[in-house]
Amino acid sequence: MELGIAGRTALVWGGSRGLGKAAALQLAREGARVHIAARNAQTLTAAADEILAATGQAVGTVSADLTTAAGREAALALCPEPDILINNADGPVPGDFRHWSREDWIAALDAMMLGPIEMIRRTVDGMAERGFGRVINISSRSVKIAQAELGLSNGARAGLVGFVAGLARAFVSRNVTINNLLPGIFDTDGQRRHVQALADRTGRAFEEIWRERAEASPARRYGRPEEFGACCAFLCSARAAYITGQNLLIDGGSSPGAF
Ligand SMILES: NC(=O)c1ccc[n+]([C@@H]2O[C@H](COP(=O)([O-])OP(=O)(O)OC[C@H]3O[C@@H](n4cnc5c(N)ncnc54)[C@H](OP(=O)(O)O)[C@@H]3O)[C@@H](O)[C@H]2O)c1
Repeated sequence: MELGIAGRTALVWGGSRGLGKAAALQLAREGARVHIAARNAQTLTAAADEILAATGQAVGTVSADLTTAAGREAALALCPEPDILINNADGPVPGDFRHWSREDWIAALDAMMLGPIEMIRRTVDGMAERGFGRVINISSRSVKIAQAELGLSNGARAGLVGFVAGLARAFVSRNVTINNLLPGIFDTDGQRRHVQALADRTGRAFEEIWRERAEASPARRYGRPEEFGACCAFLCSARAAYITGQNLLIDGGSSPGAF
């Protein structure tokens, strides 16, 4: 299928590793002019080199933090008018709600709700004026299947999802869609950090928890980042203009609900 996004401009937060990098790579394959933002300059450069080698497309990079005003300004200075915006940053470490301070909650909101909302605020009117826009928020299955130890994620991401539900309907008539992708378990650095944190909390072995999580999935495996990238690129495509305000699980069938 021809996705119809060759020449479109994309800004991908967290495009240096994991799910964000997979999205950036697939968008570049489809001919989009991709810009990636993340905090660490070295991994950004490595990702840009990797995408160039794989696709022949040069990738713009900016060392920037989604949670800060300065970081968002830096990303918009590199890519002022994105047609495609992928919001994505670190999830929280698992823990016990009794230990979370106000500062912990504000940090979670900045990464998983307020930073993405601010990026949408800065870009969505321009998308509407140009008659094309695609916003994807990389969220988590925890929005639908809440896990107690991921309370910071459950709470902060639900705020973004609620906001998007209202906004998406206001923009779709101008060919701007806003959707949330809800990954289950994917084989990324982020997933490894999460499993290591569970191992540290419980005293269990990393490999045991890693294997157990794969076996608990109907797919019996972790998702591959390229599977996520393909789904994300489709939602960013010209073909997906009638899909908006959705929370799409991509989890190998782990979520048990029919709806
Ligand atoms: N992988 C999974 O199985 C899974 C499951 C459910 C939900 N998720 C969620 O999906 C998102 C991506 O996960 P992942 O596994 O791809 O993570 P990852 O492998 O750790 O990659 C995260 C990317 O985001 C960048 N980043 C992190 N915080 C940032 C910030 N404040 N500003 C700008 N860039 C930032 C990182 O680069 P720098 O560190 O250099 O900034 C990196 O490029 C996370 O929110 C995660 O919680 C993932």
